[in-house]
Amino acid sequence: MTCVSCLLLLLLQLLLTAAAAAGAGAGGGGGGGGSAGPYEPNWSSLDSRPLPAWYDDAKVGVFLVWGVYSVPSYGSEWFWKYLQADKNPKYIDFMERNFRPNFTYQEFASHFTTELFDPASWAEMVSASGARYVVLTSKHHEGYTNWPSAYSPNWNSMDVGPKRDLVGDLAKAFRSKAPHVHFGLYHSMFEWFNPLYLQDRHNNYTTNLFVETKTVPELYELINQYQPEVVWSDGASVDPDWYWNSTVFLAWLFNSSPVKETVVVNDRWGEGAMCHHGSFYTCQDRYNPGSLQNHKWENAMTLDKASWGYRREATLTDYLTIHDLLTTLAQTISCGGNLLVNVGPTHDGRIPTIMEERLRQLGSWLDINGDSVYSSRPWTHQNDSLTPGVWYTSRGDRVYAMVLKWPKDDLVKLGSVVTTKHTSITMLGYGHGNLTFTPLEDTGTHVTFPAMSKVASQWVWVLDMFGVIPAGHTTH
Ligand SMILES: *[C@@H]1O[C@H](CO)[C@@H](O)[C@H](O)[C@H]1NC(C)=O
Ligand SMILES: *[C@@H]1O[C@H](CO)[C@@H](O)[C@H](O)[C@H]1NC(C)=O
Ligand SMILES: *[C@@H]1O[C@H](CO)[C@@H](O)[C@H](O)[C@H]1NC(C)=O
Ligand SMILES: *[C@@H]1O[C@H](CO)[C@@H](O)[C@H](O)[C@H]1NC(C)=O
Ligand SMILES: *[C@@H]1O[C@H](CO)[C@@H](O)[C@H](O)[C@H]1NC(C)=O
Ligand SMILES: *[C@@H]1O[C@H](CO)[C@@H](O)[C@H](O)[C@H]1NC(C)=O
Repeated sequence: MTCVSCLLLLLLQLLLTAAAAAGAGAGGGGGGGGSAGPYEPNWSSLDSRPLPAWYDDAKVGVFLVWGVYSVPSYGSEWFWKYLQADKNPKYIDFMERNFRPNFTYQEFASHFTTELFDPASWAEMVSASGARYVVLTSKHHEGYTNWPSAYSPNWNSMDVGPKRDLVGDLAKAFRSKAPHVHFGLYHSMFEWFNPLYLQDRHNNYTTNLFVETKTVPELYELINQYQPEVVWSDGASVDPDWYWNSTVFLAWLFNSSPVKETVVVNDRWGEGAMCHHGSFYTCQDRYNPGSLQNHKWENAMTLDKASWGYRREATLTDYLTIHDLLTTLAQTISCGGNLLVNVGPTHDGRIPTIMEERLRQLGSWLDINGDSVYSSRPWTHQNDSLTPGVWYTSRGDRVYAMVLKWPKDDLVKLGSVVTTKHTSITMLGYGHGNLTFTPLEDTGTHVTFPAMSKVASQWVWVLDMFGVIPAGHTTH
């Protein structure tokens, strides 16, 4: 290969990288496209808002699902629904075996004591995980608010249970102890058993008493009091978006609210909105499509495979290992997603030790390998064409290969990477210079891993490549 062709190939790579970035940006609203507002209360206008840049750069968030369900801490945060509406025998038996007859779910609230809750230590832990945002449940489908809402008398964290403002205390702790971590709030639109909600549904949405007197005022109260930079809506998808007044609220949020410049919202704002509208798409729980998406998206997933809320009966194998977690991270980031890692705190205010361990392990990996994650962009290829378990990202003129398994004989075969005269390859967490590589006969590259004892990273290893071009764009 002559040097002229090397240079041409390098130029081609830069163009492809720029095109890929622009492609992801246009879809994600983070590129040059989009409109600066003001926004109308309709989806075509709201969807034209550019994605605030911090969100795509942050890549990793921690999701805290905490409420009255953390008291029984059994089965799932859907405990009340399964017990009362579904009469699920597992939950009926649990109540019969452990509580006096006619004990109601609402009575659990006074046992939501949170006496060990130390907001500063949560902020420290989330920060140590490497997450750049946090999302706390302000209210789940049970309707109990983790802040002293004026619209939820006797069913909020000041009146019953903790006797404190959990949302406010955590927001303050993050802003003072971990200001680089964006503070966000989850909010459930519907409430399983709220009589006003049930009445509106019964009336086939000819009334919207629940929305007018509860949901909407509550949302304004939350935004004005706590200024969340993520509004993670949920529980809206069985009812139409016009019932929820979603577009009216979002137009206010983007035009006039105290967080109008930086706030991002998900896609759960009413029937049909999921995967179609919002700053980023969540599509379904644990969404992990494995291919590049044309709109910014988020994989909201759980460390406990079976539940978002804390579950005391979970066993070791119910939890993701750190390798499982990093595998999901690599797949998610390489396909343009963010990863929102859920942990379920306990009724007394602790983050369970095994979840703390996962978070700190994630942080120790990101400390070494963060260049391949933060502010990265998808590359031309998402996973390798020859070797399973190799996922790519890019940043400027660098390409990163996250290798999920240390290769046999220390030799990894990359079918998607073509080297040039300008290529150099090293490994993050290996401070001893370049790695040896040779072109594959067909197309691709063999890279020789260093001695494992000289590498700081554990679990997953990242090749840091300069001056390479994507296979499939080289031979014409
Ligand atoms: C939606 O907003 C746009 C402005 O972006 C406006 O031109 C359009 O008329 C609105 N559509 C409806 C149905 O209100
Ligand atoms: C439980 O509630 C039912 C129906 O309200 C009532 O008939 C029954 O006496 C109650 N049981 C106890 C032990 O209070
Ligand atoms: C409910 O309203 C929708 C229109 O909003 C209508 O299509 C549907 O037939 C109504 N259903 C009942 C049971 O009234
Ligand atoms: C809901 O939206 C309608 C317009 O569609 C508006 O008249 C009404 O004031 C809104 N209600 C709230 C509580 O925002
Ligand atoms: C790349 O990922 C896709 C989607 O997960 C999968 O179908 C394909 O088999 C993967 N390729 C390799 C070589 O592992
Ligand atoms: C790695 O290779 C590049 C390109 O050949 C070279 O410029 C650089 O100095 C090398 N780095 C080390 C630490 O040897």
